[in-house]
Amino acid sequence: MFPGGLPARGPNQPAPNGSVLIMAHQRVPRVRDGLKDPKSATGEEGSPVRRSVAETMRSWDATLRNVRLTGCAGEPPALSASAVRKYVESFAPEDEVLAAARERGEEMGATSIGPASGAALRFLASTLTARAVVEIGTGAGISGLWLLRGMAPDGVLTSIDAEPEHQRAARRAFTEAAFPPSRYRLIMGQALDVLPRLTDGGYDLVFVHAAKPEYPRYLETGVPLLRPGGVIAFDGAGPAVTEPAAAALRLLGAMVRDDETLIPLMLPLGDGLLLALRAS
Ligand SMILES: C[S@@+](CC[C@H](N)C(=O)[O-])C[C@H]1O[C@@H](n2cnc3c(N)ncnc32)[C@H](O)[C@@H]1O
Repeated sequence: MFPGGLPARGPNQPAPNGSVLIMAHQRVPRVRDGLKDPKSATGEEGSPVRRSVAETMRSWDATLRNVRLTGCAGEPPALSASAVRKYVESFAPEDEVLAAARERGEEMGATSIGPASGAALRFLASTLTARAVVEIGTGAGISGLWLLRGMAPDGVLTSIDAEPEHQRAARRAFTEAAFPPSRYRLIMGQALDVLPRLTDGGYDLVFVHAAKPEYPRYLETGVPLLRPGGVIAFDGAGPAVTEPAAAALRLLGAMVRDDETLIPLMLPLGDGLLLALRAS
């Protein structure tokens, strides 16, 4: 039995009420399936291929009348949440440069952004045609690589980190990926000291991946840096279990939701990728 009480049965086996269970991975017959024979191109009505297409479509129409897709109308999903998550996280795999940078990050104890969140950052930077991006938390440069790959060809990434060793590792990663030093500036220091020195309204995107207890302060100091239409993104902004991070993330969520100048979006990537677009 499924947890929701559905009887266990194989794909295409009718249920007692006559409906048929279609598994998410199951291939649905298409008209093209019957058209592989070159004779079909002649359009002969009575050809064996045409007849087989017609039969397939008739039987499929009959199936559709009774079809019941799992995951619809409150039924349990066909795949477990962890299987979906695994698929999502591996959808845009890392190349060798990213994998090597991640390994160096792990050796230094700097947690790196996951591939799905990285792909989202590249997508975002690309959608915004980002020319100026601020990153809080350089780490070993994994998120920086994703951002640089999405930004405009002449865009500059400004990345802040308190650890010189991390920034050395990031510089190595950017060099391995053939980004010239003109594409990034690495600023060493405490984020809350550096952010007020950056230009208000001068950035398309601010990406935050540093000290979670400081996330509400990064919002306060990061939003003024954005141009209207710019986006601030927080990695790991889903619920946390330990304090003071948990309280800080609850506060961050409330601040973003309650600010009428921001349009919020929480994406279920990694530990939660929170986006807020500066509407005005
Ligand atoms: C999770 S790592 C960043 C990983 C990086 N975004 C990536 O995906 O490759 C967090 C980084 O933030 C830096 N950091 C933590 N607190 C900071 C602060 N208050 N100011 C500046 N950097 C900070 C740490 O040194 C560390 O390198």
